[in-house]
Amino acid sequence: MTDEPVIQIKSLRVGFETDEGYFRAVDDISFHVGRGESVGLVGESGCGKSVTALSLTRLIPSPPGRIETGSVVFGGRDLLAAAPRDLRQIRGASISMIFQEPLSALSPLHRIGRQMVEGIRFHRDMPKKEAWAFASSWLSKVGIPDAGERMHAYPFQLSGGMQQRVMIAMALMLRPSLIIADEPTTALDVTTQAQIFALIRGMKQNDTALLLITHDMGVVWEMCDRVAVMYASKIVESGLLDDIFSRPAHPYTIGLLSAIPKPGMEKKTLSAIPGQVPSPFGYPPGCNFQDRCPRASDECRMAEPEFQEIGPGHNVACFNAERGV
Ligand SMILES: Nc1ncnc2c1ncn2[C@@H]1O[C@H](COP(=O)(O)OP(=O)(O)O)[C@@H](O)[C@H]1O
Ligand SMILES: [Mg+2]
Repeated sequence: MTDEPVIQIKSLRVGFETDEGYFRAVDDISFHVGRGESVGLVGESGCGKSVTALSLTRLIPSPPGRIETGSVVFGGRDLLAAAPRDLRQIRGASISMIFQEPLSALSPLHRIGRQMVEGIRFHRDMPKKEAWAFASSWLSKVGIPDAGERMHAYPFQLSGGMQQRVMIAMALMLRPSLIIADEPTTALDVTTQAQIFALIRGMKQNDTALLLITHDMGVVWEMCDRVAVMYASKIVESGLLDDIFSRPAHPYTIGLLSAIPKPGMEKKTLSAIPGQVPSPFGYPPGCNFQDRCPRASDECRMAEPEFQEIGPGHNVACFNAERGV
């Protein structure tokens, strides 16, 4: 076993050509996920998290999307340069994805069992009957009652939570080395959310890596070993869970953390970060966070802060970062 990361993303830049012009949704981001590691990619809505996730296996619709530069090294090769045929083999088998909306991954027209069996047989040489039994056993594993019968159901016949479980079974059953989960529980009630997270945690074998995308620092705390904080197309801070929660350095990270509900605190007393994520057409010169930042200085309006190491594995892009805490 090597220390090589499962996936290594370098200088990824992704943009969209729209009627109003071209804009960059992901700007020069680099990060990695190690074997067995759970990395959280966190930030408010519109910061480029989903575009990042989709770009890793080149699922970004193109046009209008365009991956401008970068590399995504997985299993010793650059997925951004891989043949479409190889990518289809990797997706759903070595890298699987869980989305917020299960119906984006399930076909409404086919029964659950058939979809699962097709997924298995696309990647594995397994007789149909065996694949059926295998799929059914995975529905049981993810907590779907009467799995044998549910195999005959259409997605719309299941509740949102059950659909999500089906998608998770499909994502896990081929033992991927990386799971990318993009807001996997955002659409679910709190109880189901907790069950789904327990499931992902329990099912993740020791060497399966997880890239968990969320806008919720509470979820990061529950699930992740390491964190990358994304704001307006860039990663502004990254570090071990403990660095980010005990020694947050970027004012944006500090703001996200102050928005986590504490026990006994009423929701309305939360100090969310004032203002909004700028539109990608309106990113200012200098730091993208300047308009909302309590620490913004002249420097921040003129130049872009470099992503610098401030502690072992702890990096931040801010001229006025919190230091030495
Ligand atoms: N297919 C698309 N066409 C045009 N713009 C898009 C497309 N997908 C995403 N965007 C834009 O890219 C930016 C980043 O979006 P996204 O990655 O979905 O944010 P997040 O997942 O962090 O909420 C947003 O401004 C969004 O409107
Ligand atoms: Mg998203």
